[in-house]
Amino acid sequence: MTQQHDTGAPARPRVVLGVGGGIAAYKACEVLRRLTESGHEVRVVPTDGALKFVGAATFEALSGQPVHTDVFSDVPEVPHVRLGQSADLVVVAPATANLIAKAAHGLADDLLTNTLLTARCPVLLVPAMHTEMWEHPATRDNVALLRRRGVVVAEPASGRLTGADTGKGRLPEPSEIVGLARLLLADRAALPRDLEGVPVVISAGGTREPLDPVRFLGNRSSGRQGWALAGVAAQRGAHVTLVAAHTADLPTPAGVDLVRVGTALELRDAVHAAAEHARVVVMSAAVADFRPVATAEHKIKKGDRDPDPVALTRNPDVLAELVARRRDGQLIVGFAAETGDAETGVLEHGRAKLKRKGCDLLVVNAVGDGRAFEVEDNAGWLLSADGGEVAVPHGSKAQLATAVWDAIGKL
Ligand code: CTP
Repeated sequence: MTQQHDTGAPARPRVVLGVGGGIAAYKACEVLRRLTESGHEVRVVPTDGALKFVGAATFEALSGQPVHTDVFSDVPEVPHVRLGQSADLVVVAPATANLIAKAAHGLADDLLTNTLLTARCPVLLVPAMHTEMWEHPATRDNVALLRRRGVVVAEPASGRLTGADTGKGRLPEPSEIVGLARLLLADRAALPRDLEGVPVVISAGGTREPLDPVRFLGNRSSGRQGWALAGVAAQRGAHVTLVAAHTADLPTPAGVDLVRVGTALELRDAVHAAAEHARVVVMSAAVADFRPVATAEHKIKKGDRDPDPVALTRNPDVLAELVARRRDGQLIVGFAAETGDAETGVLEHGRAKLKRKGCDLLVVNAVGDGRAFEVEDNAGWLLSADGGEVAVPHGSKAQLATAVWDAIGKL
């Protein structure tokens, strides 16, 4: 919980940023910069190993706070207890295998491990290590133990590691780490491991239907809501396939398999293929309802009117197809971006769409006037086939994603 200053003005959330001794420590600088710039008060607590990669002066300059690694500096302040006690969130990025082992077993031989023992706020450990270390039974057991205790141990990303190696164990992108930190500050219960091993498919972004080699029919979807759904599901333990049409330039969320598509027909094939093994399918993509009858081989010229270069034909309704093919126990979630009109409000349009589409849950967003599309925040209603209606207040797209996964969990 954010504490109040005497002035009554809300205090800046207090974050302890622990930094472990791995090469990814350099990325902690970007995490720190993003946290301070978005209004957090950050104390950096590196390990001695971290300072072999990044100097204390860098952390002090970026945080505006002193930096110590041991429990014998500033002794009258009792920092080994105070830092953890007064924090709203502790984030450790990168968390090495050694640091995770110490945290799991309650060792406290430096300022960071002491802080982890005294913190009563949410704790987010963001691992970075070689694949062999991440997969070692010792690390698996330590991670499982920490998760059972309510510590959020993030899924690492896959990709380039130190040297020539690639695989699972890469530190997630700083923007994603900050997103998880902010989500936990808003809702400390946002990332339970309730989707462990559950296969899910999420479609995101906007399809593009080509008219010719340079033009297309598209829409304003950025893919951010689908990205948030995928990122939150993966951090809750799901096996996520993210079928992405055109999106803004977003880093692939850690632990997510990304399949890129372009058109509605490509999206349909990819979603159906992945849905065969999925327990949950979430259609957050903005799928074009129509496509050009034909794609011109050459760039259409102003004078080309015959045949009509923009004659359209209907695309299949992927959500309706999914509902028609739904297996026992499979949950299908649709999205409805509505503007409302003179006679009918957004929510009523949503209720009618839920009936028409036959899905298990419909996420209804009001759009237009700068809402929902191409922005960071969202709000809406979750309508379920059993008549349940939950209003989700205005918040980040990760918060809306959390509400969606909570609702799916209940279904
Ligand atoms: N959808 C889909 N295939 C389409 C169009 C939409 O699977 N060809 C899915 C979207 O991903 C979303 C849901 O259907 O989950 C609702 O999309 P929307 O565009 O609001 O619905 P439409 O069926 O196009 O309804 P209308 O045009 O009547 O508002």
